[in-house]
Parts: sequence; structure tokens; C-alpha cells
Amino acid sequence: MQELAIDLIKRAGNYIRKEIDHAYAIEEKTNRSDLVTEIDKEVERMLIKGIGEVYPDHGIFGEEGMAERPKTLDGTVWFVDPIDGTMNFIRQKRLFAISIAIMVDGVLMFGFVYDVMADELFHARRGGGSFMNGVRLARLEEKEVKDALLCMNATWVTRNRRIDPSLLGPVVTDSIGCRAIGAASLELAWVAAGRVDGYITMRNMPWDYAAGQLLIEELGGVVGSIEGTPMDFMGQTSVLAGSRTFVEDVLTYLGDEKNA
Ligand code: IPD
Ligand code: CA
Ligand code: CA
Repeated sequence: MQELAIDLIKRAGNYIRKEIDHAYAIEEKTNRSDLVTEIDKEVERMLIKGIGEVYPDHGIFGEEGMAERPKTLDGTVWFVDPIDGTMNFIRQKRLFAISIAIMVDGVLMFGFVYDVMADELFHARRGGGSFMNGVRLARLEEKEVKDALLCMNATWVTRNRRIDPSLLGPVVTDSIGCRAIGAASLELAWVAAGRVDGYITMRNMPWDYAAGQLLIEELGGVVGSIEGTPMDFMGQTSVLAGSRTFVEDVLTYLGDEKNA
């Protein structure tokens, strides 16, 4: 499965790099910032076809719905985001990723995040560690919020529909800095690579976070919801990721603020 996933990702990456400077159709999905292009759809089709040819009985949760999604997580299921960070793909032509995770009987077994333009392939195998372009990544450093470089979109500290904007303010204030890439899978991969120390969002789907989750867990880190609960992989969720110390510290901040 790993060999197939990497082969498909590399082929899709070549296709994207070839098409990125050509004209392509762009559509709005739910709103002005939720976009899809014909390249996203074509890449998802390529990935689904490649998986189906070798594993016709596997289920596939693809973001763009190019294949019928399974009703349960039974058996082997793949989570596929053909282009994570579509806005970056369109506007910046960099900092987007192909994200694929493979789950067997409810357990994440493989995770792949491919930064297409940087040609950086992050991969993890349960029990086997996490790697970037074949080089093993180091265990996450345990860091409290006060020593952490955060990765979080400014949305969550301004008026929004999902969280009281004052709750995460103190986390940002006390951290050593706050960054945002705009591609969740890559932000999680950057936590795994030690480029940032924690990622927080209020809105992700399994194809956004599952691959990055395994990358981080294999390095001793923790990925859960902002309520401190494990992921259920069946719908939208918040994500709080980083070293155990970081995650516990953020949960303490949130608890303190809510009780204030
Ligand atoms: C989005 C990106 C973004 C995150 C959103 C995702 P898409 O994925 O990962 O960083 O904040 O929640 O939906 O739509 O570009 O694949
Ligand atoms: Ca995505
Ligand atoms: Ca996408």
C-alpha cells in the first residue's frame, strides 16, 4: 500500500506541476474562500483510479466526492485530499499538498503529505516512525505554550462561528509567535518536522488531518479535538496538535479561560 501511495502521489505531483501555469476552471463550493479547480478533481480521479485498480475492495473518502464515500470505517479506507490548500495552489502556486491516509479497521496505518512544489514527501507508518524524503524525523520536543511557535489561522482569534475569539488570544499572546500556511496537512507535517510546535484549527475534515495525525503520533506527539477528545474520522472537527506538553498546556489555558 505504501509503495502504491507514493507512486500515485509522485505521478499526481508531476501532473500538478505541469498544469499549474496553464488556465483551468475554478469553482466556488460553499463560499468565496472554499474553492475547487478542475485540477483538484482530476487529481482525485487519478488517485481513486490508481487505488481502485489494485485494491478494488478498499473504501475511499475523497474530498471532492469523485467516488462514492463509504458509510463506515470498516475494512481498509483511504482518506484523500488531492490538493490541500487550493487557495494557495491558485494564488501562491506553492504551499499546498497531496494528503493521503490509510486506515485499517479503524486504526491509522499510513500517512502521506506531499508538498508538491517543494518536493517534500512526509510519510509515516504506524510503529515505523515518520520521515521526510526518506530521512527519519526526530521525536517532538516537549514545549509549553510559552516556548512554542504556533501554527493557527487568525480566523479563530477574530469573530467567527465556532469559538469565542477571546479563548485562544492568551495562547497566541504567550507563545513565541504565530504562523499560518493555509494547508492543514502541511501545517501538521511542519509540526512533525519541528518547524512549528503546534497546530490549532476549529474546522478540519479527516482528509485534512489524518495523514498529519499519524506523522505526529509516530513522533510521540498528540492530535485530538480542542475539547481534548480523540478524532472520530467521520466528519468535521477541531484539531489541536503538538507535543503532549503543548496540547495539555493549551487545554489548561482553555479550561482556565472558560472558568474565568
Ligand atoms: C483547507 C485547508 C485550510 C483549512 C481548511 C481546509 P482545502 O483545505 O487545509 O488550511 O483551514 O479547513 O478545508 O479546501 O484547501 O483542501
Ligand atoms: Ca483540505
Ligand atoms: Ca482539497
